[in-house]
Amino acid sequence: MLESLRSVVRLKPIERDRVARRLQSAANVDDLRAIAKRRLPAGVFDYIDGAAEDESAMGRNASRFSDRNLVPRVLRDVSSIDASTTILGHKAPMPLIIAPTGFPRIAHPDGELATAKAAAKAGIPFSLSTMGTRSIEEITQVSDGRKWFQVYVWRDRELTKDMLARCKESGFEALYITVDTAVLGRRERDVRRGMTLPPKLGLDTFIEGALRPEWVWDFLRSDPIVFSNVAVSTERLSNGTADGSSAVTLAEYINSQFDPRLSWDDVAWLRSEWGGPVILKGIQSVADAKIAASEGIEAIALSNHGGRQLDASPAIIDLVAPVADAVGGQTEIYCDGGVRRGSDVLKAVALGANACMIGRPHLYALAAGGEQGVDHLLNFFQTGLEHTMALSGVGSIADADSSIVQEHH
Ligand SMILES: Cc1cc2nc3c(=O)[nH]c(=O)nc-3n(C[C@H](O)[C@H](O)[C@H](O)COP(=O)(O)O)c2cc1C
Repeated sequence: MLESLRSVVRLKPIERDRVARRLQSAANVDDLRAIAKRRLPAGVFDYIDGAAEDESAMGRNASRFSDRNLVPRVLRDVSSIDASTTILGHKAPMPLIIAPTGFPRIAHPDGELATAKAAAKAGIPFSLSTMGTRSIEEITQVSDGRKWFQVYVWRDRELTKDMLARCKESGFEALYITVDTAVLGRRERDVRRGMTLPPKLGLDTFIEGALRPEWVWDFLRSDPIVFSNVAVSTERLSNGTADGSSAVTLAEYINSQFDPRLSWDDVAWLRSEWGGPVILKGIQSVADAKIAASEGIEAIALSNHGGRQLDASPAIIDLVAPVADAVGGQTEIYCDGGVRRGSDVLKAVALGANACMIGRPHLYALAAGGEQGVDHLLNFFQTGLEHTMALSGVGSIADADSSIVQEHH
């Protein structure tokens, strides 16, 4: 009896690797978020996790995914599932892209290096932000995968041009122009906490530090967090007279660099400077999607910046079908905001998106376990998408159409 029980109940061997052990218990993105919350100082966590004003756009991004269910078709041979697709003409094992985010190194000292490596292993594009904390050149050193760069078109056009030149030299494939940031959104958690970026170690951070010693130790031990991309270009343009490390103090300069005069003419200027594929990130209406398509823009990313800009903006999944109806086939359509599972990805592609992007999830994963954390997350998305496709009777991404998505209220 005992013998037969033993053959059924098998205790899992104890995982020796500390990070792997921590990740074992993370069954989904919420779990990774909970680990990140435990490990990061509250101000840092809130900077990543928070959104603008009442955070209603962020809430809607998520709830409007839940308001839709899949209509499973049964008795279709789903013994082989293929979640692969093409993104900007190149094959990817799933329709997922790492969205650009500022300051990843506040989540983990490796920052973008870890995420870029994990994305390359998973075969999906990694995006680096202008506000990134690892440089274009550093990313190229660690990743031969697909690399995209996100620019804000600065008032200082020379700086923007220099970043484009560096991207070309470093083999970056595509460029995002983020268009939802004429001015910075009002993130009220940061206002309340008086959050500065990069974080300053003040008294409260030290009190926090007693509770989160690993983070404080990493923060103190690793090289200072700087806006690496701005720093390198500033140094190049000044012929080495400006010290790149002074970029830490460039935060205010950067804010002053957002250009509220940005228009379609500037997009045309940037495209001619760059010459490669461009993604307009932050499109939130059919009308703007149509302009982008008529301009011949290669891709648009439907995005409200994860609810961090205009709090009254529409839920992203609500935009996908109308935009796909209007411009599908003319320009690629990506979307982000609230994508937390394979089933969200399937809903979005079924409604007409070519791929989804993820922002906070990769930062939570980074905080939870560095590169291993992001590997864990990307595996969760790949297997989760395939699993959902099997349960829905969808054998391939091309087979996913709007008939499998149903909206309920
Ligand atoms: C901490 C943080 C920093 C971000 N920084 C940038 C940025 O520098 N440039 C940009 O275009 N988008 C930025 N975003 C927006 C993301 O690219 C993406 O649109 C958003 O996070 C998607 O929503 P999700 O977090 O619900 O996945 C940032 C988002 C977060 C959470």
